[in-house]
Amino acid sequence: MISAATPEDQRALAQLTTPCGQDGSGRLRYSAAMHFNRKGMLSDAALEAYRMCSPYDAEDPAGLLRSNGLEREIPKVSDLPGDMAIRLLVEEVERYFAGMNTPGIAEVRAGLSRWQSAPVTPARSPANAVIEKWLPFALDQLGKTHPALARAISLANPHLHWLTFDGYPVEEVGAEFATGHAYASIFGEEAGANIPAVDWDMGLFLIPPDVLYRDHKHQAPELYAPLTGPHGWRFGADRPLTILPAHKPVWNDAFVPHLTKVGPVPFLCLYCWTKDVHAGAEIVPASDWDALENLRLKA
Ligand SMILES: [Fe+2]
Repeated sequence: MISAATPEDQRALAQLTTPCGQDGSGRLRYSAAMHFNRKGMLSDAALEAYRMCSPYDAEDPAGLLRSNGLEREIPKVSDLPGDMAIRLLVEEVERYFAGMNTPGIAEVRAGLSRWQSAPVTPARSPANAVIEKWLPFALDQLGKTHPALARAISLANPHLHWLTFDGYPVEEVGAEFATGHAYASIFGEEAGANIPAVDWDMGLFLIPPDVLYRDHKHQAPELYAPLTGPHGWRFGADRPLTILPAHKPVWNDAFVPHLTKVGPVPFLCLYCWTKDVHAGAEIVPASDWDALENLRLKA
């Protein structure tokens, strides 16, 4: 019987239950099965089922286990401890960034490798209405193409510290956005993480469908890696929108104005500020916010 008492076991259990369909997941499940087989927690017959399924990322070993009378060896994802859930999310994010070729990605990955071994103290945030209402929808969308990343976010979610930013004057940022967004820093001062002050910040950002995040700029260079789409963007006040699909990253150099018009699905992204995170942000005036706030993008 599989039990996950140690951090290594918890990591292996998360890998053993990696959702089917994710690239490389067959091999990941098999390697985790070997871990538990070596520890006497998984039978040779069950290990053989994982071996047979390992070349096929979409093949769920549970079917083979069931047909071989090995139901009791089908693993269940227990509630992972918060620090482990966050670490697994960071590992999944690393895998996601590893396949990305975009300006700024080197700085993002360098920062992530610097901080990923820092101690993490998970922080449960008060219930956030935006997250409760829209995160499941966003993760459904993400799960269609990136099931392991969607599951990692879902497992980490209870241990993330979601905030609704209140640093912009409401009359500048607009009432809809002022309450219509939430972000959770994973590494950074607001993460609730027990790490020293760092001039670097990475986390998740969510905005409900159709909301406009008005033109703004900041000194911090920033990567947005949208996990859903399509959404509208522009990089200068009063310019036309560019519609970008999910997984098309956006890099904003220091002080480049940018705007996001959320499409018909919630905007969920990984964000990373690679330096100057304390310099703040400001709204950049434009003349067409009313029209953009009333605009409805199509899927
Ligand atoms: Fe920004």
